[in-house]
Amino acid sequence: MSKNKNTMSKEEYLNKVKEIDTTKEAPKQLEDTDFLTVAKERRSVRQYDPEFKMDKSEIMEILETAILAPSSSNLQPWRFLVIEDQKEKERLLPIANNQQQIVDASVVIAVLGDREAYKNADRIYSAIAEKGRMPEDVKNMYVNSILDGYGNFSKERLAKIAHIDGGLVAMQLMLAAKAKGYDTVPMGGYDEAQFVKAFNVPENYEAIMLISLGKGSKAGFEKTRLPLDEVVNWDRY
Ligand SMILES: Cc1cc2nc3c(=O)[nH]c(=O)nc-3n(C[C@H](O)[C@H](O)[C@H](O)COP(=O)(O)O)c2cc1C
Repeated sequence: MSKNKNTMSKEEYLNKVKEIDTTKEAPKQLEDTDFLTVAKERRSVRQYDPEFKMDKSEIMEILETAILAPSSSNLQPWRFLVIEDQKEKERLLPIANNQQQIVDASVVIAVLGDREAYKNADRIYSAIAEKGRMPEDVKNMYVNSILDGYGNFSKERLAKIAHIDGGLVAMQLMLAAKAKGYDTVPMGGYDEAQFVKAFNVPENYEAIMLISLGKGSKAGFEKTRLPLDEVVNWDRY
């Protein structure tokens, strides 16, 4: 127990969910994978079939869909560490507050963001120019502007960009997984510094979130959200 009896330790807080989640049914298998249905039906799933192993090709397909997400100047700073080996998942477990989904899901995908992704500007924009979508001189100006601009941004600003783009790719990954009949839970409840060290994450990468991906065995909580009119304003605050 934590010292203050009105709060819980982070580990207690993250694991209490298994006691309070009284859901009995398995996650819904969607017949209709229309976008709006997928968005409505995705839930954070924290219980997985530990025997179920996803094919690598399916994981790759989900990642292929995820990386179609938008990113700042199309620099695609996202990087993924797919943790599949059971021993590696066991190593991650205590770093992620012993959340059982770390070891039970097929894989844990660490969504990372490269603060130096702008260094790929020439490669990215040359591919666009080669397709005839951008004149060569414009491409060169674009690339120079990116190298000049991003190259002078502070570490904090580059980190913020990596986090924004990382959030977008993570969401797309989770929706793609749901559309393909799999479940996910995004996790910020882990020790970033320990994770970076234990998994040799390059110094220029931001750790954005972990995502458990696999075959859910329990659907997780039904959605509850604040009413829309409490979170939306129109025109001006
Ligand atoms: C950035 C982020 C971090 C999260 N971290 C955790 C976590 O460490 N453990 C966990 O069980 N759920 C975690 N969640 C899941 C949220 O609890 C969940 O998204 C929220 O309760 C809404 O439920 P839904 O995803 O089923 O709609 C996280 C979600 C986000 C977006």
